[in-house]
Amino acid sequence: MSKKKTHLLGFVQHGVNSHATGMWRNPTDKIGYHFSRPDYWQHMGRTMERGLFDAMFIADELAPYNTYEGSSDATVKYAVQCPTHEPSTIVPIIAAATKNLGIGVTMSTMFVHPYSMCRLLSSLDHLSAGRVAWNIVSSYSQSEWDAHGHENMTPRNERYDRMDEYIKLCCELWDSWEPDAVIADKESGVYADPSKVKVIDHNGKFFKCKGRHFCEPSPQGRPVFWQAGSSPRGRDFAAENAEAIFAVHPGVERMQEYAADLKQRVAKFERPEGSVKLIYGIQTVVAATREEAQAKYERIVSCIPLEGAVAWMSGHFGLDFSKMDLDENVKNLEVPGIQGLFESIIYAKDPKGELPVTVREAAMIYAQGMGMPVLIGTAEDIVDKMEFFMDEGGADGFMLAATYTPGCFEEFVDHVVPELQRRGRYRTSYAGPTLRENLLQD
Ligand SMILES: Cc1cc2nc3c(=O)[nH]c(=O)nc-3n(C[C@H](O)[C@H](O)[C@H](O)COP(=O)(O)O)c2cc1C
Repeated sequence: MSKKKTHLLGFVQHGVNSHATGMWRNPTDKIGYHFSRPDYWQHMGRTMERGLFDAMFIADELAPYNTYEGSSDATVKYAVQCPTHEPSTIVPIIAAATKNLGIGVTMSTMFVHPYSMCRLLSSLDHLSAGRVAWNIVSSYSQSEWDAHGHENMTPRNERYDRMDEYIKLCCELWDSWEPDAVIADKESGVYADPSKVKVIDHNGKFFKCKGRHFCEPSPQGRPVFWQAGSSPRGRDFAAENAEAIFAVHPGVERMQEYAADLKQRVAKFERPEGSVKLIYGIQTVVAATREEAQAKYERIVSCIPLEGAVAWMSGHFGLDFSKMDLDENVKNLEVPGIQGLFESIIYAKDPKGELPVTVREAAMIYAQGMGMPVLIGTAEDIVDKMEFFMDEGGADGFMLAATYTPGCFEEFVDHVVPELQRRGRYRTSYAGPTLRENLLQD
């Protein structure tokens, strides 16, 4: 039996820093580019496409974190995922520079009505000729709620109840145009057959909607659904709806537990095995020698400002770590923010989570790349580890967190991709023009 081939995504943000705090200080970051300009995004897209990545994954949040010391000062001061510009604006720019690369965009369901969300995503799927994915989130951070005028954040379970209805309404809208509704007969003057374009009349617990979807069917019909919920409700939502699920686990033991849990949940929703791709976050630092790679890694770590790191961790987990001593141990508890990423810290030192992790250690691990395994070494070393995570940890693919851009992706494409291909663990051409086809490719 041939070995499973990996899928790859480049994990970034429309901002100065993405997921490695202090990245902007690195002398090898964005040489000759500015993150807010089209040439940067087009180069990033072309690089990932040269490496036959399934997609670029654009993460997002809606406002600067304000958990640390009850303020967003440290977020602004240390560029903790700030500034971050609106993610959907760069999708057509990247699409115009590429042919096959998918573009996954994070859009929160919380402050946008499903009707408008569908219209936006259909438009992007048209403009990219069927290469758009939607990373479905519900705004886990208090700062996002404050910025949108809400004093209290809706608790996690209710956010998922609302998201369940949200996605069902979106699907009704996307499916409301029959495939042959557009006739475009110039002779008769009939553009579309109204009997084949359903009027949606939704009156639910959270949403009302009456009207027809405003876009004709896009190449993929619906965007590819991505999700990264990791609480039990989050995992169920992902197992029911997602076509790719993203998770961060520091080691193979936690990956195994996660993969087994998810398999059961996918079966519960009667979805066929293989219909949901399991994508793990990793960071890679590749060089011709191990010594060189280690030196690069140390340079990345030296750019991380400790206070910025603690502020980021506070923002993601919804806990103000300024109230703790830096040498105090972090306790395993349920957090209001991103539960799954919190666990990546608790289990960072050992798979049982028994070795204590201090606030200082947790912050530095987290600020490097959200607790993802960091693979440092030659291309062979890195591929050894990737194969291990695929064969033993259940990975169908990896999202590569940026360390410095575009350099880290250029180096990965030039050195690691050929090694993956040499071992028969990676595609040598795209399966087709749409993202869904490429994601489903074995
Ligand atoms: C790898 C990964 C990437 C994520 N990216 C985002 C993001 O870009 N924006 C966002 O608002 N939430 C993001 N999240 C958060 C989740 O999608 C989810 O909303 C959050 O984890 C709360 O749900 P949970 O408690 O079920 O995990 C991410 C989570 C993970 C694990």
